[in-house]
Amino acid sequence: MESILLVGGKGTRLRPLTINTPKPMLPVAGVPFTEHQIALAREAGITRIALGTSYRAEVFSDYFGDGQQFGVELDYRVEDEPLGTGGAIRNAADALTCGPDDPVVVFNGDVLTGLDIGALVGAWREADADVAIYLTRVEDPRAFGLVPTVGDRVTAFLEKPQTPEEIVTDQINAGCYIFRRSVIDQIPADRPVSVERETFPGLLEAGRTVVGWVDPGYWLDLGTPLAFARGSADIVLGKVHSPALPGEPGESLIATGAQVDGTVAGGTSVGCDAVVGAGSEVSGSVIFDGAQIGRDCVIEDSIVGAGATIGDGCSLHSAVIADGARIGTGNELLEGVRVWPDVTLQDCAVRFSSDQ
Ligand code: GDD
Ligand code: MG
Repeated sequence: MESILLVGGKGTRLRPLTINTPKPMLPVAGVPFTEHQIALAREAGITRIALGTSYRAEVFSDYFGDGQQFGVELDYRVEDEPLGTGGAIRNAADALTCGPDDPVVVFNGDVLTGLDIGALVGAWREADADVAIYLTRVEDPRAFGLVPTVGDRVTAFLEKPQTPEEIVTDQINAGCYIFRRSVIDQIPADRPVSVERETFPGLLEAGRTVVGWVDPGYWLDLGTPLAFARGSADIVLGKVHSPALPGEPGESLIATGAQVDGTVAGGTSVGCDAVVGAGSEVSGSVIFDGAQIGRDCVIEDSIVGAGATIGDGCSLHSAVIADGARIGTGNELLEGVRVWPDVTLQDCAVRFSSDQ
């Protein structure tokens, strides 16, 4: 089976982490997120993957090469200007070899899931569908594509609904599709196309068969820094399976050369040559390569970028520290604070408390 992986988005919501690295290449549970997706695809029997790239395309090919080391054939299609999700699918399909009636598995490059890909292909086959869409249920669907169904038939596709009347279901597009190859070949080439706003509504309008398949298992969009830390921790803890996790699931993942004198738990991963000082407690966090955390810090659900330093006695809760930033001793950074690359924060410069 062949597949297309969409990895061309800019990852704006993950700034400042994506200033240096495209979102899908950020380290999640010890390896770039895309490596988890490739391993899961391979496990489901996918042998060839076309990566639809745009922003910082070379970072992907430098790391994955022809895919041999990862057990799949990889090819790349680069968009000079982003072509949107539909345009990217059309463009990347040039790298596939399958026939017009064969299934093509398409993945958004930022979705962590325990999806049974084989079952989704089965649903597509059984309905003799043009497209099958993987759906999940969420409490607040506004940031996603809403996909109401009658039986298994998709009746509408409402991307990022704006008004309360548009919230007609809690079922959302979970970011994986099975396309009949010939349907991809009908997407216009060489101009931006949104699969969500143009292709899917167009197929429904034309009365084509689009089926939805709800999978109740694990699903997370890694669109925000906190979701990104959560997803990494969930892989480390084994709440969601990834064949690319280095080693067995457990409380933490500690890379070669890291020096941990404090305690790390709750699915924290600590990168190569990073340091966690004595008395520090780190949970649910991602500590990138070469980051240095001093003594007696408390770090929860946070991200510490490559080579960043955190002084003694700091508290970080849901904070994002970009590469190379320096946080002086005794700072307290809470809920969603983001520090940009190479910024220096003086000792005791910041203290947010919930009663202020
Ligand atoms: N190659 C390429 N070119 N890839 C792109 C482009 C492009 O122009 N634009 C976006 N992508 C990739 C992104 O890298 C990402 O992997 C995927 O397409 C989806 O784009 P996002 O920007 O992450 O979209 P979203 O999260 O707001 O919404 C999408 O995902 C939701 C589920 O997570 C939509 O598909 C929603 O309908 C869906 O519910
Ligand atoms: Mg997304």
